[in-house]
This record gives sequence, structure tokens and C-alpha cells, in this order.
Amino acid sequence: MSRSSEPLGAVLTSLSLLLLIIPWSLGGAYTAEEGAGDAHAGHGGPGEMLPGQFMAITLLFEENNWDADAGIVVAPDPGWMVMGGERMSMNPVYLAAYQWGYSPAEIQLEAGVEYQFRMMTMDVYHGASVSTDSGSQMVRLIPGVVIEQRLTFDEPGEYTLYCSYYCGEQHNGMSGKIVVV
Ligand code: CUA
Repeated sequence: MSRSSEPLGAVLTSLSLLLLIIPWSLGGAYTAEEGAGDAHAGHGGPGEMLPGQFMAITLLFEENNWDADAGIVVAPDPGWMVMGGERMSMNPVYLAAYQWGYSPAEIQLEAGVEYQFRMMTMDVYHGASVSTDSGSQMVRLIPGVVIEQRLTFDEPGEYTLYCSYYCGEQHNGMSGKIVVV
């Protein structure tokens, strides 16, 4: 068992380098017309990535932002910056969907802070739907396509993330939790 941990460490180290590079290279793949599901057209949209690659980044995101005391993944400061006239987050929130759940299953956000979510499904089509104070947000998730969605929760509380696209027998029970503090 301990043998496998060393190569894994090496893989994770190189993946963390990828993590720094990929968000920037993704930018070139965005097209405004494919921005369906993004409430802010032209402020990001889908990019292509292998599901396995996205999952690896998501697992790193969870590991790097795991708060052992709180027992939950805490989203980092989104670090908004402007590049080429476009606002973008240096620390997006990664969310992977699968049959039948989300990873991370729970995430903590700060009230009144705008976050940039990056989402993808690992297997079949799924949805991600959540009701914020300013209305309901819903996106369809497609394998191999990174969907970006900006979300701000003004009121602290617990919000449920629902799958909004039929994805199999446990579709109705597929949910995640967003804790806003
Ligand atoms: Cu996942 Cu419906």
C-alpha cells in the first residue's frame, strides 16, 4: 500500500503544475456562442478537457482547500483580475458531477462573494441547479466540456445543488450541498 503513495505524490505534484497552466490555456477555447447556460455571455463559457483530467484537477482542488477543522472544502478567495478587458477568477471552484453525486459533495462559500464555478460531468449528461437569493441558476453538464458559471450567495445558509437532467435510476437523489457563511 505504501509503495503506491510515492508515485501518486509525484503525479499530484505534476498535476498541480498543470492546474496552474490549464485555466489559462482554456481561455483560448472559449466561444461566446457556446455560452449557453452562462448568465454572463462573453464572460467565459465552455472549454474542452478530458473528464479524467478535470477529475484530477477537482481532486487537487478539494485536497488543497480541505479545512480539517470545519470538515468541509472551503472555496478560496476567487482572486478576480482583469485580462484583455475580461474579468476572470484566478481561483475558480471546481465541481465534478457523476452518477450519482457531485465532487466536492459539500462546499463552503462566503456570503456576498462572487465565485467562478468550473463544472463538468465525468460520465453521462447531468445538470446542476441551485436557487440563490437572486433566482435559480441551472446548467447542463456535458462530458468533456468545461462549463463556467458565476455564482454569488448574499444570504448565509445551506443551499442544495440538484441534478436537473435525467441521468439514471438515482437521478432524483442526486444532490450536493453549498454552505454559505
Ligand atoms: Cu444527475 Cu440527474
